[in-house]
Amino acid sequence: VKLTPYVDALPIPPTIRATGKPAEVINIEMRQFQQKVHRDLPPTTLWGYNGCWPGPTIEAESGKPLSVNWISKLPSTHLLPIDHSIHGAESSLPAVRNVAHLHGACTMPDDDGYPEAWFTAQGEHGPHGSKFNPRPSAYPNCQPSTALWYHDHCLGITRLNVYAGLAGTYLIRDDAERALNLPQGDFEIPLMLQDRLFHHDGSLFYPKVVNGPKEHPVWIQEFYGDYNCVNGKVAPFLEVEPRKYRFRIVNAANARFYHLQLFNSDATGKVQNDSLDVPSFQQVGTDGGLLPAPLELHYLLIGPAERFDIVVDFSSCEGKSFSLVNDAPAPYTMGGQYLTEDVMLFKVTKPLSGRDTSAVPETLVPFEPLSPDYGTRERLLLVSEKERPSDGYVIIGLLGNARWHEPITEDPKAGSTEIWSFVNTTGDVHPLHVHLVRFQVLNRQAFDVPTYQQTGKLVFTGKPMAPESNERPAYKDTIKSYPGYVTRVIMRFDLPHGAPVSHGDELLYVWHCHILEHEDNEMMRPYKVVV
Ligand code: C2O
Ligand code: CU
Repeated sequence: VKLTPYVDALPIPPTIRATGKPAEVINIEMRQFQQKVHRDLPPTTLWGYNGCWPGPTIEAESGKPLSVNWISKLPSTHLLPIDHSIHGAESSLPAVRNVAHLHGACTMPDDDGYPEAWFTAQGEHGPHGSKFNPRPSAYPNCQPSTALWYHDHCLGITRLNVYAGLAGTYLIRDDAERALNLPQGDFEIPLMLQDRLFHHDGSLFYPKVVNGPKEHPVWIQEFYGDYNCVNGKVAPFLEVEPRKYRFRIVNAANARFYHLQLFNSDATGKVQNDSLDVPSFQQVGTDGGLLPAPLELHYLLIGPAERFDIVVDFSSCEGKSFSLVNDAPAPYTMGGQYLTEDVMLFKVTKPLSGRDTSAVPETLVPFEPLSPDYGTRERLLLVSEKERPSDGYVIIGLLGNARWHEPITEDPKAGSTEIWSFVNTTGDVHPLHVHLVRFQVLNRQAFDVPTYQQTGKLVFTGKPMAPESNERPAYKDTIKSYPGYVTRVIMRFDLPHGAPVSHGDELLYVWHCHILEHEDNEMMRPYKVVV
């Protein structure tokens, strides 16, 4: 069956707003539940934070700490097929293990959702787990206003736990943002993008390889689904007023890149020919916060885990409909299959409830760039894949030519600035994410891949290219590392303000590819910040 797009209204996840009171703790329960994902499907069994998919949107205030008690009420059998050959997913371990990570947050390592710091509903815990279950994770929120997101991060089964529904949006607010008077309230809407497959009975379908190699009996290289879900609904529609809206977009897909454009459509979402007459996207923010100035874009290219903060002005569009269409190949950029076009439909059918007094000012927030002169050290970090020679079936992905359990090689000093240069010898774009920090993109430079593979020498075949207009000046925490390019980012390894550390402490974090199938399969490395 083909599910008809644009027949269900976009759901808006519930909001949990922190009060800002000192020592505030909120409880969030991971539960199994059922939810309708499409008009024509029976309810789907899912896992979600507080029993919804996506989980509640948490709103915190910059500079006001918030603790979250992540509690598991999940059953002890998994919804999806586990590949026990993957590190950390051995059959001797409890099948259902969880640990929540606040993506993009500056936290202490114990609160960061280290992949081995998992716990279960029954009180078991992993090698880095806490003795206390549940244990609140402390989020200092010592960052300017931005959109973070939280999701499961358990070693070896992250892709399955997130796929089952364990993800949600986390917004940090501050005065600088409020002063801008961007669209707010009902006119500010989180959009969490995820692709999925469903069985006829509505259940989630996560495919497995048939006759897979013994290294990976059921693992697939990347998951791509036929249906784009937004906030847990298959290709939904949203009725809007003729006014400005702010959308907080999170790409929470396992592996899919989205290349999004608006098209003029009829009320059912069928694209009309005069597709030029559409509102543009005004990008006002990215992973690390607001941009110095808004940027007018006609398309958005969003890799897994990236966030786009955009404003769309529907004010002169009364009665019109616009479909949001994805045409990114999967895998990105060389794949040809697994196209999923329908993302969502905007129908400008609601009457204006009041004058639109919101604004998109010409300048947003000041930006302090990190100068490459402060880079105390540059690390060349290889992004590679190890293929099975017989058929090119990818066995593992590697970062820095090492596996997860090998000794730590990245050990920046607390407070120091480093340049990390990702050398991508694979055929795909990998969205690379470093915990704890926000970074700035410096440049990308093409190099000769075969020479590098044979001799280990970097021979550049072009000049360094400036980052995309929405990558700099901007703070990011996830960056597209293109095949055949060195992608350079600069970052300062700052700990949370007033972190209780002493000289000699070594704090454990991770960096990894955010294609969840890659991350689960060795494309993740621990790193330590040395005090
Ligand atoms: Cu989105 Cu290591 O995380
Ligand atoms: Cu990857």
